[in-house]
Amino acid sequence: MARDIRNVGVVGLGTMGAGIAEVLARSGLAVTAVELDDAGVERGREHLRNSTGRAVAKGKLGETERDELLGRISLGTDLAALADADLVIEAIPESLELKAEVFARLDGIIGPETILASNTSSLSITEIGMHTSRPGKVVGTHFFNPAPVLRLIEVVRTVVTEPDVVTDVVEFAGRLGKTPVVMGDRAGFIANALLFGYLNHAVRMYEQRYATREDLDAAMRYGCGYPMGPLALLDLIGLDTAYEILDTMYHQSRNRLHAPAPLLKQMITAGLLGRKSGRGFYTYQ
Ligand code: CAA
Repeated sequence: MARDIRNVGVVGLGTMGAGIAEVLARSGLAVTAVELDDAGVERGREHLRNSTGRAVAKGKLGETERDELLGRISLGTDLAALADADLVIEAIPESLELKAEVFARLDGIIGPETILASNTSSLSITEIGMHTSRPGKVVGTHFFNPAPVLRLIEVVRTVVTEPDVVTDVVEFAGRLGKTPVVMGDRAGFIANALLFGYLNHAVRMYEQRYATREDLDAAMRYGCGYPMGPLALLDLIGLDTAYEILDTMYHQSRNRLHAPAPLLKQMITAGLLGRKSGRGFYTYQ
């Protein structure tokens, strides 16, 4: 019988974690969200307030509905609050060391049937799962930025993920109003493996002064109907995140398509990370 996933935990409340918590709460689920410290909790709260506030301002969400939605998310700093979760989704920074530690700690807190999921976009779900006593109950649930808007969830199964865990997570993704796709544990999964060669190519074209950033972006928006041009999209993703994804894919495949363009590294070193730092290929207030 399928698991009844009702209580969901989210670990990490950055852009992705807060977006995921919002998606879950919008579907009427009780969410327990955990951050490292009080400052992290406050940042997460701010993300949630801004995102739902925008929906209220646009008349898409009533004030009472917004309050109820936020009321379904409890925030804190103690992983022990996740003891009763049916599913925990981890969305902390992309470090195997940090994720391994969080998964090992969660393993000792949650019940034996609880599913552990990672939102990683560049690390191996198999390796993360091996830091628990239940690699069969570990999957990837890869959301896309902005999570409340984009419908895809990549459900990543490893060679040891139990088939019913994959089925239950796929069913659950559908309940969130998302479109799940399933794949094995390979760097880039499906979407990033296809997308990042293109993004990297755009950086190289810009680096070679082949065209201006505006013209590169306009070509793909108005010529191909993409919602954003590649350089604006890199600013949204974060240049540091993009670099890590490319670097991991390059090391796994040795495909030159994914060898990070040198300009990306230079911009990261100079603190130009995209929207989150106020400046990337474009400048944001
Ligand atoms: N949080 C919540 N809602 C948001 C949002 C956010 N951060 N950003 C935009 N929205 C909502 C808006 O409120 C608006 O909602 P309504 O239609 O209900 O009014 C809707 O999204 C459209 O937004 P806007 O009108 O402001 O702007 P837009 O039409 O230009 O859309 C966009 C903005 C949704 C970001 C769109 O440009 C887009 O889809 N861009 C492509 C994004 C993309 O490719 N993301 C994938 C990145 S790769 C990834 O995430 C994987 C990884 O591992 C790195």
